[in-house]
Amino acid sequence: MINYIISKLRLLLNPDPIPTQYALKYISDAYSGKQFDEKIINIVREYINPGKTKILDLGAGPGLYCKRFYDLGAFVTWHDISAKYKISAFTLMKSNKQNWNFKLDIIDNIEGEYDIIFNRVCWYYCLNDNKFLKSIYNGLNDSGVFIGVLHNENRLGKSYGIKRLLLKIQLILNEKFDIKIGHPPPSKQKINNIFSRYNFSSLKIEDYGLDTLIIFKK
Ligand SMILES: C[S@@+](CC[C@H](N)C(=O)[O-])C[C@H]1O[C@@H](n2cnc3c(N)ncnc32)[C@H](O)[C@@H]1O
Repeated sequence: MINYIISKLRLLLNPDPIPTQYALKYISDAYSGKQFDEKIINIVREYINPGKTKILDLGAGPGLYCKRFYDLGAFVTWHDISAKYKISAFTLMKSNKQNWNFKLDIIDNIEGEYDIIFNRVCWYYCLNDNKFLKSIYNGLNDSGVFIGVLHNENRLGKSYGIKRLLLKIQLILNEKFDIKIGHPPPSKQKINNIFSRYNFSSLKIEDYGLDTLIIFKK
């Protein structure tokens, strides 16, 4: 609830929360391949049926992953909060308008049904971990697949003094009470807990470098 109000206020004051310099650097790194994870493309590729698969990239950023899914024959929906990244993705789309959709919105607002929902390194921006997973579940068709790379406690970095204390409070509130303030990543333990509650036809949770890779089939 608190996060919801903060996110609404923030969007009201600044519809694109990504600072321009940051976005330009992220886009440039993505285009140069620095930020690009080829391995995840090979994982997603296995689930794409060319000409049939509808894939939603939640928190799609500059759109490089969408472009690759499009090149593999999928119908892609780019979904992100940032108009700056939308311009980047729009440029990548070129004239292939019929196979691309764009949704400028917070990741929590999922509309439609998809064969694949993809979410790479931005889960922690959701308003609530459990509710977000439910929206993802509802956004998948009966045999739909979720493929996510989630930050976890390994990505907390170092902080000291009052900042460290505030971070600790954020983490405890999210872990123990499912109350999210800001964007703390869920711990590996919480990831296991929330995903294991569902009766998926298959579920894989494993370490993926510092992050956690999750693949489930509804
Ligand atoms: C670290 S980037 C990851 C981008 C892309 N998934 C990738 O792997 O390169 C995080 C993305 O989340 C987006 N984002 C941040 N907060 C968001 C929110 N509340 N709703 C939707 N997207 C959000 C940012 O605009 C950015 O594109």
